[in-house]
This record gives sequence, C-alpha cells and structure tokens, in this order.
Amino acid sequence: MAGVSGRLAELMAELEGSGDLAPEWAGAFKAVPRHLFLPSTVWIEDGDRLVPVQREDDPEAWLDLCYANDFVITQVDDGEPVGPGLMGAEITSSSSRPDVVALMLAALDAEPGMDVLEIGTGTGWNAALLAERLGAANVTTVELDPQVAEHAHGALREAGYKVVAVTGDGALGYAPGAPYDRVIATAGVQRVPYAWVEQTRPGGRILVPWLTDFHNGALVALTVSGDGTATGHVVGNVAFMPLRAQRGRRASLARDVRAVAQARRSVTDLHPYGVMGEYDASLAVGLKVRRCKLVVEHHGEEGEYTVWLIDPWSGSWASLRHVPGAACFEVRQLGFRNLWDEVEAAHRWWTGLGSPAAARWGLTVTGEGQQVWLDTPENPLTGGRPGERQ
Ligand SMILES: C[S@@+](CC[C@H](N)C(=O)[O-])C[C@H]1O[C@@H](n2cnc3c(N)ncnc32)[C@H](O)[C@@H]1O
Repeated sequence: MAGVSGRLAELMAELEGSGDLAPEWAGAFKAVPRHLFLPSTVWIEDGDRLVPVQREDDPEAWLDLCYANDFVITQVDDGEPVGPGLMGAEITSSSSRPDVVALMLAALDAEPGMDVLEIGTGTGWNAALLAERLGAANVTTVELDPQVAEHAHGALREAGYKVVAVTGDGALGYAPGAPYDRVIATAGVQRVPYAWVEQTRPGGRILVPWLTDFHNGALVALTVSGDGTATGHVVGNVAFMPLRAQRGRRASLARDVRAVAQARRSVTDLHPYGVMGEYDASLAVGLKVRRCKLVVEHHGEEGEYTVWLIDPWSGSWASLRHVPGAACFEVRQLGFRNLWDEVEAAHRWWTGLGSPAAARWGLTVTGEGQQVWLDTPENPLTGGRPGERQ
C-alpha cells in the first residue's frame, strides 16, 4: 500500500497529465500535503446518505480519500450530523477536487507578491497553496462556519502558514486587508457581493463560481475597473456549494412532492439529458427558470430515473420519467407553476439563440446590481426578467 509520498506522486502525475495543473503551481501542490488539512472524520456519499470515514478506524481508506482527485466532504449538516452514527444529509463543507483547485488557481492569474482574498477557507488547503506560492503575508482567507474555521486555522498554523485567517461572513469581504489584487471565492454565488468589487484594486480579478437554483455552476472571471464595476465571462465549468446566505431552500422529495395523483399529465419528446445533462443548456435554462431545484431519483440498475423539478418556495413540482430507449417521456406537474413547461420554453429560447456555449455568457457587477449578458455587456439578458438587475 502506497504511503503519503506514493499517493501524492500518483495525484501529481494525474494532475500534470491532464493539463489542469499550471507549471507555476506544481511546486505548491508538491509542498503542501492535502492530508494535513483534512479532518480525521470525513464523509462519503452512499445513495442519498453521507457516511463517515474515520481516520482512526480505517487510516488507509482515509488517506486514499485525501489523495484521490476528488472532493472530500469535511462537514455535514452545519456540523451537527442529523443521522445516527454521524451520518449526514447535506454537505456543508468540503475540500474541493484537486483538479478544480488547480484549474481555479491557474485562472486566478496571480503572481508572487500579489494580495489575495479567499472566501471559504474550508480545510485551509487552498489558502496554504496560495501562501506557498504568493507568500503567507499576502493571503487573507475568510470562513463563516466557526467549527470549520477553527480546524483550518489549526492546520494552517501547524503547517507553518501565517496567513490572515478570519472567521466571519465572506460576503462582506474583509475590509481591513483591502485592497486586494485577486479575490477567489470557493463557494458559489447567484449574486456577486459588491463588497468584493469595492475591495479589489482597479485591474484586479475576481474569480467566482456562479450558479443558479437550477445549475451548479460556472466559473466567472471578472475584471475590476476604475469606475467601480466588474465585468467578465464564464471561463470554466465547476460545481460548488453556495455561499451560506445564498443557499436558498433545499428541495425535498418527501416534503415537497405531494398529491401525485392530482398532477397534470402530459408527454414530451425533449430528452431530460438534453436539458439537465448538457452543461451549456442547463446553464442557460437556469438563467430563465428561477427558483427551480433539480433532484434525480434513480430506479434500480436499468437506467430508469425520474427527474424532479421542485420549487420549494411555492410547492410547485414537476416530474419526468426517463425510460431507456423511449422516444417520449411522461410528465407530471402540480402547483401554480408548470415547471417542466417553463424548462421546455427556456430550452427553446436557448436553441433559438443558436445554443450558445457557456463561455459566451458574462456578468457585469455594479453597486446597483448584476447584469447577465451574452457575448458583450451591450447584449444584456432581457425577457422573463427584463434588465436582469438582481
Ligand atoms: C468548498 S468549501 C471551501 C474549500 C476550501 N477553499 C478548501 O481549500 O478546503 C466552501 C466553504 O465556504 C464556506 N462558506 C459558505 N458561506 C460562506 C460565507 N458567507 N463566508 C465565508 N465562508 C463561507 C463553507 O462553510 C465552506 O467551508
């Protein structure tokens, strides 16, 4: 069984082979062992349950998780696992996938000596990587959850990285350390907090996972200009948990899906995968269909599944049953919204635009709000939500 160095070498080979790891970040990845930042209890997904893996019970399994090119769940249910035996229902903190961390650090375009603000310290691993290359004095990191922050601060201290580590609401940025050359959010947002723009130097960059209730998520790189606006395109495909205040409501099949027998029935020939499984399509659909969460329920091994569209605020829901090989799919809808009809209309709108790829969308953030646009800020998203100021 490979030790830490063997596992790290395998991970490095994978990251370097895939091209995700920019050469200037390779030294930091080698120098900062991920396992020093992961708590001794982590969780793995098992169906819809989150099952703990404890270092003392199974050190090899724990270490495998630390050096897999995958995200590691490091907190569930805001630190109070709801199930018996530490089992959890909802992921509330994680160490991001190493290839995603590498991709984001490359997209951050940071140079040694630049001042960087990280939102979402999580385990502290990313802050340590930033400190290793840019200098610890140049790194400020903010974490909202006190338990998570305490663990990260201890790990950063023990590993010798004297970054400015703050426990607080990262949506406010961290004014005492401003201005920054770079802001990197490791939690997703629907609306970019304006404090991040105000705290970034003109010419500086804000890198943030941008999501909707329907779609999770797209990496956006914004450039801040001297007039107090930040603007930029989608530059990558990443999935992140939302900033805590922007979590919205959780969709729950048990709570939100009721009165199935009374649902309106129809059929559609639009394949659910063409909407939900297609990155460019689902990003665009999420821009139009607000307050709509997606839950996929698998039925056995035969590739049968049901896609549930749920508006947990109004209680409207829709379902679409996928049967392999079928040309049409049964739709049920209940509540004052016809969620599948909305999704189908948004999909038609997207194909009518020529099925633009995610990278053609962009955002402009000002003190007044946020504008979504296609290709250029002169082509703002209108219709459905005219002006799209959020
Ligand atoms: C994906 S994890 C971050 C991973 C982290 N960068 C690492 O290296 O392990 C997202 C983190 O954002 C934190 N978070 C959520 N909302 C926040 C907020 N408003 N301010 C600061 N942190 C927040 C969560 O508690 C969670 O720990």
